Amino acid sequence: MERTDFDHSKTPIFSFLQEYIKKDIIPFFVPGHKHGRGLKEFTDFLGKTVLNIDIPSLPETDNLANPIGIIREAQELMADAFGAEHAYFLVNGTSEGVQAMIRSAVKPGEEIIIPRNAHKSTIGGLILSGAVPVYVYPEIDPELGITTVVSSSTIKQAFKQNPFAKAVFVINPTYYGMVSDLKTIVRTAHRKGAVVLVDEAHGAHMGFHDDFPLTGMEVGADMSAASLHKTGGSMTQSSVLLLRGNRIPEENVKQTLNLTRTTSPSYVLMASLDVARKQLALYGDELLEKTLELARYAREEINKIEGIYAFDHSLVGKYGIYDLDETKLSIYTGRLGISGFTLERELMTRFGIGLELAELNTVLALITIGDTKESVDRLIEALKIIASEREIQDPKKISELPEMPDLIVSPREAYYGTKKTVPLEKAVGEISGEMLMAYPPGIPIVCPGERITQDILDYVKILKEQHAMLQGTADPYANYIRVLGHDS
Ligand SMILES: Cc1ncc(COP(=O)(O)O)c(C=O)c1O
Repeated sequence: MERTDFDHSKTPIFSFLQEYIKKDIIPFFVPGHKHGRGLKEFTDFLGKTVLNIDIPSLPETDNLANPIGIIREAQELMADAFGAEHAYFLVNGTSEGVQAMIRSAVKPGEEIIIPRNAHKSTIGGLILSGAVPVYVYPEIDPELGITTVVSSSTIKQAFKQNPFAKAVFVINPTYYGMVSDLKTIVRTAHRKGAVVLVDEAHGAHMGFHDDFPLTGMEVGADMSAASLHKTGGSMTQSSVLLLRGNRIPEENVKQTLNLTRTTSPSYVLMASLDVARKQLALYGDELLEKTLELARYAREEINKIEGIYAFDHSLVGKYGIYDLDETKLSIYTGRLGISGFTLERELMTRFGIGLELAELNTVLALITIGDTKESVDRLIEALKIIASEREIQDPKKISELPEMPDLIVSPREAYYGTKKTVPLEKAVGEISGEMLMAYPPGIPIVCPGERITQDILDYVKILKEQHAMLQGTADPYANYIRVLGHDS
């Protein structure tokens, strides 16, 4: 990021809280645990400090809904660190940011060009906003059996066919660290008078070291939402929404966020954003250099193991992939003759190693500023042992990806439409009233408003056999699905 004269050693919220606990305030306000005294077992376990700083919005602590004090100052520092004009702290993750982006930029009935492999939160954004999706489809790497990215030429084509689209939504990067040519997409969209909304759930760290793909803010996108809690060091749930330029009015964003967000945001989470921003702004380059060294070392060592392939830069230039975030250590399991789910289970049960994501043919190990050579060596050694116990095979996919289903009615129409519940195996030909997905990655296999196909059911059957965690349907086991229509 371009450096400015903001003083990034400052942590307005965190510093306030450090002073607050020294004052020994007697709280006649919520939360009712009153600095932890009302929740002794938990306080003894966590330590007093966390509960002591779990305080509400007070005259001295500013208010996230209308920041004019320490939260405002912290958000301004955040905006500066990310090269944005405005930053908004989020305590409901990037899901909240994704939905706020769509709702701030697109009105009911207006079109938004959106990748069909977007996270489930975008579907929530479409339902809440009434925006009409123009789905664009990612490329598929047939060898690895994964979707990659939506290419800039696909976006160009989508604008040709839908010249009045108001926005384009881009994932930067995908779970596997792949990015499209975002700069070109921004240029295309802006020429068409559309705004660019960027999902940077997996890219909060990217602007702090030169070797990462470019961020939305760096290439002139209008808004982006970044999960600082995933790769930026802050605590779970804490993310940031970023805004630049004047295509989307600042007032819209503030008011949109205030429609749905809690009036009791956690100061623990917001303080963690404050400190994570300081760390990234002051030491990000150095910390990420070490992270990249570890990721490169891990990738090199893993690629020496027979039967295992860790995705590398050789993928760039294929299937729309413009660049790769090297800290996403994605591993193809096809030649071991096991699914990603099996590898994930073995690593956890035999070696105490947890992964970020498993899919049918792949797993993802995330390398971040929190990793060490020891943690990475444990992973490499465990993979060596597992591979040595397997007979290496010709790559064999467990399943092809299902064809993306046809959109029949908008997600919002489907959401509010009358529904009946049918057994999943009898749902072929029906229009889905629900999402269904494996989580992670949280990319719907079917979305509300789409026609359910046999292909989809076959794929879900395989996911179930592999013990993937399914969600989205009202039925917690996804044996039934709600579809459009009346009970007969
Ligand atoms: C691509 C993508 N976007 C958005 C989100 C939502 O982020 P959060 O968990 O911070 O709400 C996720 C979560 O994994 C994601 O993978």
